[in-house]
Amino acid sequence: MGAYEIKSLEQYFKVYKKSIREPRKFWSKIAEDFVWYKKWDQVLEHHLENAEVKWFVNGKLNITKNCIDRHLAKRGDKTAIIFEPNDPQEEAQHITYNQLYARVSKMANVLRDQGVKKGDRVCVYLPMIPELAITLLACARIGAVHSAVFAGFSSTALSTRIRDCEAKILITADGGFRGNKTIDLKGIVDEALEDCPDLEKVLVVKRTGADIDMKKGRDMWLQPLLDTALNESVAEVMDAEDPLFILYTSGSTGRPKGMLHTTAGYMIFTAYTFKNVFQYEEKDVYWCTADIGWVTGHSYILYGPLANGATTVMFEGVPSYPDYGRFWEVVDKHKVTQLYTAPTAIRALGKESTDWVTKYDLSSLKVLGSVGEPINEEAWHWYNSHVGDKKCPIVDTWWQTETGGIMISPIAFATPTKPTYATLPLPGVQPVLMDEKRNEIEKNQVVGNLCIRFPWPGMARTIWGDHRRYKETYFSAFPGKYFSGDGALRDEVGYYRITGRVDDVVIVSGHNLGTAPIEDAINEHPAVAESAIVGFPHEVKGNALLGYIILKETGETRNRENLTQEINQHISEHIGPIAKLDKLQFVNDLPKTRSGKIMRRILRKIASGDTDNLGDTSTLLNPDVISDIIEGAK
Ligand code: WT7
Repeated sequence: MGAYEIKSLEQYFKVYKKSIREPRKFWSKIAEDFVWYKKWDQVLEHHLENAEVKWFVNGKLNITKNCIDRHLAKRGDKTAIIFEPNDPQEEAQHITYNQLYARVSKMANVLRDQGVKKGDRVCVYLPMIPELAITLLACARIGAVHSAVFAGFSSTALSTRIRDCEAKILITADGGFRGNKTIDLKGIVDEALEDCPDLEKVLVVKRTGADIDMKKGRDMWLQPLLDTALNESVAEVMDAEDPLFILYTSGSTGRPKGMLHTTAGYMIFTAYTFKNVFQYEEKDVYWCTADIGWVTGHSYILYGPLANGATTVMFEGVPSYPDYGRFWEVVDKHKVTQLYTAPTAIRALGKESTDWVTKYDLSSLKVLGSVGEPINEEAWHWYNSHVGDKKCPIVDTWWQTETGGIMISPIAFATPTKPTYATLPLPGVQPVLMDEKRNEIEKNQVVGNLCIRFPWPGMARTIWGDHRRYKETYFSAFPGKYFSGDGALRDEVGYYRITGRVDDVVIVSGHNLGTAPIEDAINEHPAVAESAIVGFPHEVKGNALLGYIILKETGETRNRENLTQEINQHISEHIGPIAKLDKLQFVNDLPKTRSGKIMRRILRKIASGDTDNLGDTSTLLNPDVISDIIEGAK
């Protein structure tokens, strides 16, 4: 690959201009570098006002041909995936492209044998072990649509997702290792499947060796099936716009949204952005610390790197196990050249002694990346000085599950970095800032709603089963434009700074949490009448959750400590431990507008201690509650 590679700032501006003036020519030149069964008739067809976009119309391809097969001649013995287990005593695995081809083929054949066909949805609930990567690729090989669910999600969250996409088969493991914990994945699956009568089969990977129940006629161990499967497989011919995967993300209201990504545009966008943002070179060892259960892992552990024939590290563990040196040990051990992680991890490790860092040789590092939430200045400087030795550019990459790949980010060694700024849009990406009156903001340093005014190949095409919701959520606030839900400003040189969500989504430790589903979970507790969740600034997590809770008046007095625990237990069961509340305040009332809507804006300010400047409270039905809540917080 090489079309429109960027090596300097001048080149960036040149390429960027070209990508805006002639987007079709630009993307088709890049697409030429891939393997197609048949090339496209038209590069792009779109009606953004209707949320309709097609890229590489009528092109035929298979993404695994591009991520695996085409590398075999030149890089068959090169390591594709380095698997670094949770326990440093367990040996790392180096999976070459040849081996990856064989393992993906076997898995593809197993899925075919189990009756999985093109277009079927396959739910994948696996920990960060090689089988996770292999299963997703195997689905892509046979044209099945993978729907990975992060293995930290609860049984309720899992069953909602299985039902929503009507998956008929699920791949899971007997358990997972995470730090000093083992997670009973199969137990969670069994619980989830009580509510999923249409799911027919479960294939189980052996990881922890836990003694688990296998349901007759439904559950099968995967390994014996793999052992007898052929290690070669035919790649299904896919249309450019055939679905590749569904990945759920939370919205401010309602059920999680199954974002649907399609084949060609997603592949080309993740491959191009990976290569350029990280300046990946043939001998590099790239490590993204995310979980493949999130979009960061899909795009920048799996598809983007493999499309470039890269060596990509898959890490099963956590930054703090067995000690705070774990990340740096892995960098040293595998001579990692690009490290891509989240501000929450940087903050957590930055709180510990720098001896953990200096203990290891980090001189292999060339580029550092950040993703998931705004990186604060202090974390940026710590990352820059202690990890990068002030020699590695930090690429602060802004993007979303919905965008498929990185949208705004420095290009390593080309774009001068500036702490807290994601800097410039990547080629093909046309951001605009809009004010509340739907006018474009031209001025510098004014926060606006971050929108994108032209399609890019990696964008999600719809919400699975609900195109109307897709259109309403993303294309109706600013007609004809994609609305991200984030606020941003621009400086005098055109650099973008992301200021955070403008809706009721809270980013906790880099995880996107909608407040509505958490409130729903809390409200199911028999003692709770009503609740409102807001985010407040947290040292390590970026944001943490505070719940304001109104209890039912039953006359009986309840132990509030127990209640707090029970409520958090409810949240864990319905969503997952990541959504637990850091603080909880019992209140008699919540600030509401005359139409009965909770004014979260005010609660957010109170929660972050910003009580001098609550803004306009004149539309409140019950202004007295404010002082009660502030008083109660003390
Ligand atoms: C939301 C998307 C991008 C993959 C991981 C999260 C926030 C993401 C940044 C950044 C400031 C960021 C935004 C966005 N976000 N990256 N570099 N600077 N904010 O994907 O779960 O879909 O969350 O994460 O608020 O809307 P996601």
